[in-house]
Amino acid sequence: MKQLLKILTETFAPSGYEDAVREIILKEVKPLADEVRVDALGNLIVRKKPTKASKTSKRIMLAAHMDEIGVIASHVDKKGFVRFTNVGTTLGRYLPGSRVRFLNGTMGLIGYDRLELIDNIIPLNKMYIDVGATSRGNCPIKVGDIAAFERSFIEMGDRLVAKSLDDRVGVVVLIETLRAIKSTSNDLYFVFTTQEEVGSRGAGSATFGIDPEIGIAVDVTPTGDTPASIKMVMELSKGPCVKFRDVGMIADPRVADWMIQSAEKAKIPYQREVLLIGSTDAREIQISRAGVMAGALSIPVRYVHSASEMVDINDMKNSVKLLTAMLKNPAL
Ligand code: CO
Ligand code: ZN
Repeated sequence: MKQLLKILTETFAPSGYEDAVREIILKEVKPLADEVRVDALGNLIVRKKPTKASKTSKRIMLAAHMDEIGVIASHVDKKGFVRFTNVGTTLGRYLPGSRVRFLNGTMGLIGYDRLELIDNIIPLNKMYIDVGATSRGNCPIKVGDIAAFERSFIEMGDRLVAKSLDDRVGVVVLIETLRAIKSTSNDLYFVFTTQEEVGSRGAGSATFGIDPEIGIAVDVTPTGDTPASIKMVMELSKGPCVKFRDVGMIADPRVADWMIQSAEKAKIPYQREVLLIGSTDAREIQISRAGVMAGALSIPVRYVHSASEMVDINDMKNSVKLLTAMLKNPAL
């Protein structure tokens, strides 16, 4: 699981450019699936058919997004400095001094205009990317070129640190859940979605195509367990989080109950989640077509949307256990 997470987090897939991550996932899931396809928006849809179909079999969609936040070049000046804007919620406070890698392989570092006050948070339009060019003519970056954080994966005991744990950690949990389910009475769709960070655009169209009866997004949740953080109960190492509410949705209480009952029965630790910032693919799943019964299972992650996000491997393992327990038996 660690090795796969390292490979996936050291691969680049800003929103709309998920190909490299999709290729890695495809290799892992192909031998485990009954059907595999890629839709027009680039979503990877992996189906595991019921091994013992019954009247209570349900069509269940699971979603984890492949994309990560990034930046996109909007202007190159005479000296070859690249101005940029955000792709997804790229936060100014995490950028100065960061390295980014463009999809054409060009590396860049982020500098900023002279500040009036040295401790001010800097807006993105006061920053630039220095790619080592000296003029517009020799700058390898054109307007529209896209980049993501460059940062290697490290281990701190059970805690793993990398860029794009949001949501490669969810991607790994879905792959390992698919691997763990030997038989199921449900018709399962594991969907690796595109463009979540720019508003769950992939999940919306994937859900329309699949038309599931139940949907679950597997994504990260920020925690409230660091010094002077927002008051939220979610902590690292305390188990997967059952979502009740975020900015985009009220999770279906039937789905939340199903998660909690499955966790208690299998003695898997879990946490209750009310998230004060952000949302997930579950929102788009819930309001697709005539509506879908939807919820979300979240993996606690610190420092979300920085180049060094942190997760506990035990939270990943318990998420796989919980989803496996839920999905192999008749749902709800
Ligand atoms: Co995110
Ligand atoms: Zn996410």
